[in-house]
Order: sequence, then structure tokens, then C-alpha cells
Amino acid sequence: VDPDPLQDFCVADLNAALSVNGYPCKPSSKVTSEDFFFDGLSKEGNTSNIFGIGVTLGNVQTFPGLNTLGISMNRADFAPGGVNPPHTHPRATETGVVIEGKLLVGFITTDNVLHSKVLTAGQMFVIPRGLVHFQLNVGEEKALLLVAFNSQLPGIALVPPSLFGTTPPIPNQVLTKAFQVGEDVINEIKSKFGA
Ligand code: GLV
Ligand code: MN
Repeated sequence: VDPDPLQDFCVADLNAALSVNGYPCKPSSKVTSEDFFFDGLSKEGNTSNIFGIGVTLGNVQTFPGLNTLGISMNRADFAPGGVNPPHTHPRATETGVVIEGKLLVGFITTDNVLHSKVLTAGQMFVIPRGLVHFQLNVGEEKALLLVAFNSQLPGIALVPPSLFGTTPPIPNQVLTKAFQVGEDVINEIKSKFGA
């Protein structure tokens, strides 16, 4: 969980010249009501990509009014068959509610137990902090999901590109040994993630 605020608000100055743990506050004299509202999640995300998913971020970097308040949201749009691939948020627990469609939601514990369920509109889930999780659109139509985090900047580490699409690439020796497959398999997966 992010640290507690020391004042009512601290609207982020994203362009400040100094770097702190979080963002410095915009001068109060410059703060307006607009700083506390954000319409970035009102539009459907673009799902024309290999995963068939569009994630729109409502974090401190897109909505600076969230700075120091320890909270943020995302919108996820899924094409039919679209997947939010296995990923983690290093700084937050996530909770979400399906708005439209039918999603298989799952997370994996540190003991490698999978907890999953198919959810429809109005149903909620929780992903404990840091655990690997995914959502798959198992319906015939597109799906819409809203999620919330107990961090202003939860971070997203997507497992496939974290392993197969890094700069510079992870040596094949690491990946062939880790996954117990040959180099051809590793190279094929790497080729999908631009490595
Ligand atoms: C969903 O899991 C998201 O992190 O947007
Ligand atoms: Mn997530």
C-alpha cells in the first residue's frame, strides 16, 4: 500500500525537475476542480493487437489528482477470445468488476495453486498483491472490465514480454534450462515479442 498523504491532496506535477518517491505537488494556487476528474476511462480501448485486449490506465501518470492517495483504476476491453496475459502488479492488490461480457479470471498462488472462476456482469474478484493473474474473454461478445488498485502506480509486469521480449534479450541458456525445452522453441517465442 502506498504511504498515507500528509495533506488533503497533492496533485502531481509530472514535469517537476526533481525526482522523489512519487511526484511533487502542483502549487495549490494552480489546482482546479478539473484536477480531480478524469474521463480517460470513458472510451473503449483498442483491442487490435496480438492479445485482443485494450487496457486504459487511470493511474497517477494519466490522472495526476491521484498523487499520494494510494488508489487507481484501469479499464480493460476484450475482443472475443481476447486475453489479458499473465501479469503481476508489484505494488498493489487488485479488485475488479465485470461490466459487460463473460471473463475467466484467475490468479496463481506462491504454492502454484490456480484460483479461477468465470464471471459475468456485476461480479467481482480480488487478486492479492504481486500474484500472477489473467483474464480471458470466454464469451461470444466483447467484454468490459473495470479494476481498482491500492496504489497510485501499481506497475504492470507482463510475463510473456518480461521473459521473451526484454532489451537486451535474456540468454537462451537461461530460458532453455528454465523451461526445459530446446533453443528453437525459445527463439520462436522470442520472435513473437520482437526480441
Ligand atoms: C487487469 O488485471 C489489469 O491489471 O488491468
Ligand atoms: Mn491486473
